[in-house]
Order: sequence, then structure tokens, then C-alpha cells
Amino acid sequence: MKKGKQIYEGKAKKIYETDDKSLYIQEFKDDATAFDATKRGTIKEKGVVNNKISTIMFKLLEQKGVKTHFVKLLSDREMLVKRLHIVPVEVTIRNVVAGGMAKMLGLKEGIKLKEPVLEYHYKNDALHDPLFNEYHIRALDLATDKELGIIKDYSFKVNEVMKDFFSAKGLDLIDFKLEFGRHEGEILLGDEISPDTCRLWDRNTQKKMDKDRFRRDLGQIEETYQEVLRRVED
Ligand code: TMP
Ligand code: ASP
Repeated sequence: MKKGKQIYEGKAKKIYETDDKSLYIQEFKDDATAFDATKRGTIKEKGVVNNKISTIMFKLLEQKGVKTHFVKLLSDREMLVKRLHIVPVEVTIRNVVAGGMAKMLGLKEGIKLKEPVLEYHYKNDALHDPLFNEYHIRALDLATDKELGIIKDYSFKVNEVMKDFFSAKGLDLIDFKLEFGRHEGEILLGDEISPDTCRLWDRNTQKKMDKDRFRRDLGQIEETYQEVLRRVED
């Protein structure tokens, strides 16, 4: 697979064309940002860790019936993916109160939710990814009713699969964010699944094992990403 022109550079990844029009190369960087990129830094080897963890998660999810953009792992920092027309909606699922939900509703972090909460955020950094709902998405024609149905089903399925998977590794899945896109008319799960996009707390100590270590300057950032990879690969 020949690596072509870079067509996009985001906060944590770059996307390249290939000699196949329907496929892209997704390259993971060590750059880390938080709070709409007002906080910037690097986490050594994060790109390698997130590429490996995302690969394991996409393979597992495919086995469980969730269609994803993942094609194959290419190198330490690169995976081959299907070209997506991204739906500008970030889907968040929460099992335990943390982060944005704690702030928005004035709740303490760590409260276990009676059932998972699904949130939609409009993917727009300049507006700080505002929370919105299905009516906005349909009315603005960002996705059809049928597509939203698939996105919702996949999101809850991802939650079930990942909760069990991480639980076996001694990690509680607190919340996570997903992005979806269209490929040849079909909705696929895209982006990445990693400690950048999930909150994971150690089952025994409740230690934060994710990007909150960077967001909140908690230290042991690199070591923690390596530890999550070690457990996931175990
Ligand atoms: P939040 O509590 O800040 O809304 O984050 C919910 C989950 O989404 C958390 O696991 C981190 C992830 N997330 C992203 O992947 N990208 C983002 O830009 C934000 C704000 C959160
Ligand atoms: N990566 C996001 C940003 O830079 C935010 C986050 O993950 O907290 O805005």
C-alpha cells in the first residue's frame, strides 16, 4: 500500500491518501491536547500505544458485529482504514459520572449511573463541541433516522463489549467518545479507541488510567499509557 498525499492533520492523528481511492492511512501522533487545544503537550510513544490499542479494540468490535473503518495494522503508528465521510457528531456513552457530566449537572465524579447515558455533541471545536440531541441532528440533516438508529445500536453495543473487555483487565470503563462516518453508503465506526477517548479507572485503586492524567496534570502519563497497553495485550 503506497502512502500518498497527507490530506488532513488533526490534534492526535494525520490522514494520508493511498493508491486505493477508498482507503486511507491513519497515522497516530504523540501530540496531546485538551480543552479545545488550549492545553498542548506530547506524551512519548502515545501514538504507538493508541494505534495498538485501537487495533485490538476494532478487531474485537468487528468480531462482535460492529462494523468499523479498520482494515489492518500497517506499522507502529499507522493503520489502514476505509475512507469515511465523517458524521459531525461525537457520541459519548457514560457509565459513571465524570468530566463534562459532573461539571454540567454539578455532580460528584464517581457516581455510578443506573443505566448508560448516551450524549450527542456537535463536532465543532470553535463552539466547544456543544451538547445537542437527535432532533437537532435530524432537523439539520446531519444523519437520517435510520443512520441514527445504527449509530445508537452500535454505541451501546461498543459499551457492552468494552465494559466486559476492560473489566477482565481490572479496568472500569467510566465513559468514552465515538465517531462515525459513511463508507459506500454504510455507517462505520471510525476515529480511534484509546486512553485518549475513554476514561478508564483501575478497579482496585480507582486510579485514573487515561488522558485525564494529562488534562489534570496528574503525572505518570507515559507510564500509565504503557500500563493500559500491557493490560490490553495480556
Ligand atoms: P467529557 O466528560 O469531557 O465530555 O468526555 C467524555 C469522554 O469523551 C471521555 O472519555 C473523554 C472523551 N473525549 C474525547 O475523546 N474528546 C474530547 O474532545 C472530549 C471533550 C472528550
Ligand atoms: N482533545 C480535545 C481537545 O484538544 C479535548 C480532550 O480530549 O479533552 O480539545
